[in-house]
Amino acid sequence: MDSRQQERENLEIELLLEAIFRYYGFDFRDYAPASLRRRIIKARDQEGISTITGLTERLLHNPNYLDRFVQALSVNVTSMFRDPEFFLTFRKKVVPMLRTYPSIQIWNAGCSTGEEAYSLAILLEEEGLYARTRIYATDINEEVLKKAREGIFPLEDMKDYTANYMKAGGEKSFSEYYSANYGNAIMRPGLGKNITFAQHNLVTDGPFNQFQVICCRNVTIYFNKELKNRVHELLYQSLVNFGILGLGSKESIHFTPKQGRYEQVENTISLYRKIG
Ligand SMILES: C[S@@+](CC[C@H](N)C(=O)[O-])C[C@H]1O[C@@H](n2cnc3c(N)ncnc32)[C@H](O)[C@@H]1O
Repeated sequence: MDSRQQERENLEIELLLEAIFRYYGFDFRDYAPASLRRRIIKARDQEGISTITGLTERLLHNPNYLDRFVQALSVNVTSMFRDPEFFLTFRKKVVPMLRTYPSIQIWNAGCSTGEEAYSLAILLEEEGLYARTRIYATDINEEVLKKAREGIFPLEDMKDYTANYMKAGGEKSFSEYYSANYGNAIMRPGLGKNITFAQHNLVTDGPFNQFQVICCRNVTIYFNKELKNRVHELLYQSLVNFGILGLGSKESIHFTPKQGRYEQVENTISLYRKIG
C-alpha cells in the first residue's frame, strides 16, 4: 500500500470510529491502533465489503450489525484460573482480608465469556465466602455475556483448567464443578447463583457501586495511555479503601497516575491494595 492509500485508510478508520461513537456511544477511538486496524480489516473482509467506508455505511444503516461488529473488534481470549499464581496469591493474601467483611462485592470488569467469574466463584466457595459474595461480571460485548450466562464451556478445555485450578491451590476434584455432556462442560448450576452478568462499557459508563475487589485483567492492554488512565480513575473511584485491584500478568499500576495510591500485595503478582 502506498502512502496515499495508507492516508486514506487511516482517515476511513477515523471516520468509522467517530461514527460508531457519535451514533451508538461505543468509543473505540483510543484503542491501540495496530490491533484495532487489523480487526477492522478482518471485519470488513468477513462482511464481504471492499472498503472501510462501506463498513461504516453498514453500521450506520443496520443497527443489527452492531453487536457482531463489537464482537469482531474485541479480543475475548480467556480461561479458567488464568495465570494460576494470581489466584493462588488471591487465596493466600486477599481471602483473609475478605473474611473481615460481612458482605463482599466483587467487580469482574471485562469478564468475556465468564471463565474468570466462575473461577472466583469456585475459589470463594471453597473458602466458605461465596454465600455472602456478589460478583458483578461486566463486559462491553453482549455476545460474550450470553455465553457467560449459559455457563457452558468446551469440554476439551477442562484438562488445562484442571491443571490451572490445582496450581491455584485447588484441592478438590475439578470435575465436581461441571457435568460433561456431548463435548460440553456445563458448570454446576449453583455456581452462577451469585454472579450478575451485565453490559458495562469501561470507556463511556461511570461507577455503579463500591467494591472490595475489582478484577480488570487483560482489558486495558488494548487501550492507549489516555484511555488506560481514564479506566484506572474509574476503577480507583469504584474501590473501597484498602480494596484490592487485580490486573493481568502483563499489566501494572506503575506508570499510571494512580501508582502512588496502591501498594502491591505480593511481588511479581498484579494484585494491588488501595491505600489512599
Ligand atoms: C482478553 S478479554 C479478558 C478476559 C478476562 N478478564 C481474562 O483476563 O481472561 C478482554 C475483554 O475486555 C472486553 N472489553 C474491551 N473493551 C471494553 C470496554 N470498553 N468495556 C468493557 N469491556 C471491554 C472485551 O469484550 C473482552 O471480553
